[in-house]
Amino acid sequence: MNPYLNDFPILQEKENGRRLVYLDNAATTQKPLSVLKAVEEYYRTENANPYRGLYSLSVRATQAYEDARHTVAEWIGAGDDSEIIFTRNATESLNLVAYSYGLPFLREGDEVTLSVLEHHSNLVPWQMVAKAKGVKLNFLYPDASGRLTDEEIEKKITPNTRVVAVTHVSNVLGTVNPAAKIIDAAHRAGAVVVLDCAQSIPHFPLNVGELDVDFAAFSGHKMLAPMGVGVLYGKKALLEKMPPFLTGGEMIEYVYEQDATFAPLPQKFEAGTPNVGGAVGLAEAVRYLRKVGYDTIQKTEAELLAYALQGLAAVPHVTVYGDKTGARDRCGVISFNVDGVHPHDVATILNEDGVAIRAGHHCAQPLMRYLGINAACRLSLYFYNTKEDIDIFLESLKKVRGWLGYGA
Ligand SMILES: Cc1ncc(COP(=O)(O)O)c(C=O)c1O
Repeated sequence: MNPYLNDFPILQEKENGRRLVYLDNAATTQKPLSVLKAVEEYYRTENANPYRGLYSLSVRATQAYEDARHTVAEWIGAGDDSEIIFTRNATESLNLVAYSYGLPFLREGDEVTLSVLEHHSNLVPWQMVAKAKGVKLNFLYPDASGRLTDEEIEKKITPNTRVVAVTHVSNVLGTVNPAAKIIDAAHRAGAVVVLDCAQSIPHFPLNVGELDVDFAAFSGHKMLAPMGVGVLYGKKALLEKMPPFLTGGEMIEYVYEQDATFAPLPQKFEAGTPNVGGAVGLAEAVRYLRKVGYDTIQKTEAELLAYALQGLAAVPHVTVYGDKTGARDRCGVISFNVDGVHPHDVATILNEDGVAIRAGHHCAQPLMRYLGINAACRLSLYFYNTKEDIDIFLESLKKVRGWLGYGA
């Protein structure tokens, strides 16, 4: 029995009369009771618009929000709380960098290096910058096992590269990109690095100070917190010289009829009423993850990944993309297809057995094209999954081709 399962109320629910087998954790994770309670408690006892009120309740809401910022800063090794910008999600964090760093600081002839593994959230904003500023986009391509080689990194980061924006973990192949090597190559070229940590921070530690990364983005909802809160970490010196992304209330100092001056960090980048309840939930998620421990998370997921890969290898007519060995530089994400069956049909049939997996292009259409496919099925694990979940998934998968009239 997984000791964490009971902490997650939704995992006790039934789907189509069966126990819910939730294997879509790369899309969003489920929420433990402690996070649900923390959010409820905030709304029951501390809710007010932060910063603006002079009464005690508003002061408490402000304190809760700033405590959450401190918890996140400490957790990812940021040097200063003001380097933590709360956003809605990783997508908004990545757009913030593209709009407030890319647009003002890049010029025609500059280059931005991305990888073909990027989620659209870390690609389309840079296409916007490229079109507006005449910047060239270079792409890192993985080898057959889904990995970015040293040679590829050295080749695609050039003296003209000004930004390297890469995902830490592929949301399709699960491979962990060599962040330290990429950061080193980028800094040698004088470029800044934007690390998309949406799929890494739920599974292994991030220390922005040790990595010396310039920007890091992630979403709360992929690491047990509520939807609607995300984080952008940025080095203070960079954030300070960047213009605001969104403008309006909360982010100003003085406003005149024709002009305005801006608040210091982090408020400069947090226009409008913030999601205090979400930030409180995120801080509680951090405390919960700390209690479980990344060692346990990694060990559990590595065992489940190996078990799932082994099981999938024994199912006829299944193709798994990327690494099939469950190597250490790999998270618990497996993309696969079943011969002759559209991924949407696979997911629909599995749903009949209460199994939730993802099917589609996974917001990574260039990678789909690179792999020579239009879409794939994806199962993604978290530490609350069990071998029994994978057994149910495999049994259900074995029935798929039969349902559609294929013989063995
Ligand atoms: C690698 C990666 N980056 C960014 C995102 C975007 O996250 P969100 O939709 O929470 O903004 C995702 C979501 O799946 C992702 O997997």
